[in-house]
Amino acid sequence: MTQMQPQAQMQVNEIQFTDNNPQLACFAEEVIGGLKKTPRCIPPKFFYDKRGSHIFDDICETDEYYVTRTETELLKKHNTEIAQLIGENCLLIEPGSGNSQKVRILLDELKPQTYLPMDISRDYLTSAAQELANEFPWLDVHAACVDYTTPIDLSFVENCTDTDPAENRINNTIRKVAFFPGSSIGNFEKSHAGQFLKNMANMLGVNGGLLIGVDLKKDPSTLHAAYNDKNGATAEFNLNLLTRINRELGANFNIGNFSHHAFYNNEKSRIEMHLVSNRPQSVTIDSEYFHFKEGDTIHTENSYKYHIEEFQELASEAGFKSRRVWTDENNLFSLHYFEVAESISPR
Ligand code: AVI
Repeated sequence: MTQMQPQAQMQVNEIQFTDNNPQLACFAEEVIGGLKKTPRCIPPKFFYDKRGSHIFDDICETDEYYVTRTETELLKKHNTEIAQLIGENCLLIEPGSGNSQKVRILLDELKPQTYLPMDISRDYLTSAAQELANEFPWLDVHAACVDYTTPIDLSFVENCTDTDPAENRINNTIRKVAFFPGSSIGNFEKSHAGQFLKNMANMLGVNGGLLIGVDLKKDPSTLHAAYNDKNGATAEFNLNLLTRINRELGANFNIGNFSHHAFYNNEKSRIEMHLVSNRPQSVTIDSEYFHFKEGDTIHTENSYKYHIEEFQELASEAGFKSRRVWTDENNLFSLHYFEVAESISPR
């Protein structure tokens, strides 16, 4: 008689979950509103449907898109110093955490007490957080479905941390550190970037820290190549927006009649991405009708590039003081560590 083997027990580190029920932007309203503007535009946040998120992962692997590769190398190289600056047992918050890939580089050295990934996409967030929790069984993982671009009250997680070691605390409050990699800050308009940083400083409070990746100004040909990769991943990413609009809003964009166009706007220090109409054509969305002349464009993204001092200035105006900045040997990308200045001005 064969004996039943006991089933291998899967170690599960159960995550906590908070749902702030963020108001999802009204896709139809924002697309139609944007197409009625002059110049026409659609916000880049709509790139990231399931297909768009996968294409973005492909972009990160292209030879030309140095951003992900360079930042990853910086995180690996300076991991120990980052951990020393921050100290153990912090509450590590990641706004727009997505697949939580880069934070994995930090966790073993940093040993945060709690990791708080925040994302608007509920299903993606919970599965990514659970996967990470299983990989790091010692880590307390608390996922929060929120719109991180608006001010966030952290009391829901602070109330859960009262049994922890007294280290890395000030006034018995755990040190909060935000991790915002990938130069996502570059996709904010300058004034919004400033407001976002102010919200961060308020959320983190005195003794809080911010580890943030920021893409640097550089020769336009490197930038041009990064947003015009030879395999066409960025073009596909841009055009996928029209596929999404057709599918979700019942529009009738002919994708073949539009082209990807990305260039560096030197005056504004930003990459601009557009979709250009290759011929005169009309498109309907709902009962709305839009006519495009040949050469008309839809502006889909800005990606601002900074000098190190320029970004430090922006962060300082928002209430942060610079503690350390790391760059690669080619000065392509910067990784900053800021702390909240003693006195932060009210929102
Ligand atoms: C997410 N974000 C920082 C990317 C960037 O570089 O601005 C988005 C992107 N767009 C085209 N390629 C990558």
